[in-house]
Amino acid sequence: MFAGGAVGRAIAPAGASTGSGEALDLRDGGTAFGGYDVTKAVENVVDPIADAVIGRDGANQADIDGIMIALDGTPAKTKLGGNAILAVSMATAHAAAAAAGKPLYRHLGGDGANLLPLPQIQIFGGGAHAGRRVDIQDFLIVCPAANNFAQALDWTAEVYRHAGILMKEAGTLQGVADEGGWWPAFTTNEQALEMLVRAIERAGFRPGEQVAIALDIAASEFGRDGVYTLGLESKKLDSQGMIDMLTGWIGRYPIISIEDPLAEDDAAGFAAFTAAVGDRIQVVGDDFLVTEAARIHAAARQGAANTVLIKPNQRGTLTEPLAAWEAAKEVGFAGIVSARSGETEDVTIVHLAIGWGVGQLKVGSFARSERMAKWNEAIRIEEAMGHTARFAGDGYFGRSKR
Ligand code: PGA
Ligand code: ZN
Repeated sequence: MFAGGAVGRAIAPAGASTGSGEALDLRDGGTAFGGYDVTKAVENVVDPIADAVIGRDGANQADIDGIMIALDGTPAKTKLGGNAILAVSMATAHAAAAAAGKPLYRHLGGDGANLLPLPQIQIFGGGAHAGRRVDIQDFLIVCPAANNFAQALDWTAEVYRHAGILMKEAGTLQGVADEGGWWPAFTTNEQALEMLVRAIERAGFRPGEQVAIALDIAASEFGRDGVYTLGLESKKLDSQGMIDMLTGWIGRYPIISIEDPLAEDDAAGFAAFTAAVGDRIQVVGDDFLVTEAARIHAAARQGAANTVLIKPNQRGTLTEPLAAWEAAKEVGFAGIVSARSGETEDVTIVHLAIGWGVGQLKVGSFARSERMAKWNEAIRIEEAMGHTARFAGDGYFGRSKR
């Protein structure tokens, strides 16, 4: 709360397929609530963090974040918890926007902030989000040819609905996965791609032109030290084997974006994959880059990836992901602001995507209120902007220069 009475509130999310370089999501451990309770993190907010930030100018986000980073003093925020620090950081931004009498995206991006992101929306869940029923974590779509954000959601809703009908007909529908996408019972990973193309067609769209496919392989979940174990197909691949498999898929399906195609410890694989396809598709680093400016600079030097996934809780403040986005722009990478598998009704990331002008937003599927809250927030913002709103379309995809 600010002296003038302006209030900000925020909730930190959590991930299931976390990268090893992420800020710590501090939990209590022990037996109560399976060890997942956050009493310690809450105590850290109301005690040491409050003591350190009360009386400072909340409009100076970098100052508040800097104080908390120094107070914690560890690289992964293990002392106070990245979740404790991020919630305060985001609440500070909301309070500052309220004090200024502006929506958060305008407070962050100024009065000219009018870029609505291209949404990347999950149709099937997999990996750690669906009991590892398929190895690949996210089968998503994008609608670059839509006229505006709301229409991109309309198109996605139709594809999602038709995918559910097709799966029911094929007997492969098992429910809904962690991020709201359909929980599939496929026998191969490629079956998911085939069905996704059919769902796009059944919904009345031209695959690749109007609606295209994006994947999050989340390869750190099943790959380490250059060995990738695909459980569904009982296959073990090396780095080049993964690259060949994915390149084959890119040839056969309208795929325009692949996230974490290789594991976080496989920078050479990332570089080889980016060299092979980075001029045609977006190669996204999630676990590989963990929203960190220094890793983005290093990746750019190696030619590894051309796009960064931006998850504020991988770092634990708002200042650090903003620095990561600045680094991305400096090296010519694109960006995607992203939610986590463990989400809440908090909609801060929508404002970050628009306020920072990132151009892409990934929030999981088109179901469950923690996802819909974010899509709805973006629709409200697009409506409020009226004719000044600009839809990113495919104008902000990552592409490597030849
Ligand atoms: P996570 O999944 O939140 O479980 O890490 C999201 C992603 O991998 O992009
Ligand atoms: Zn990911």
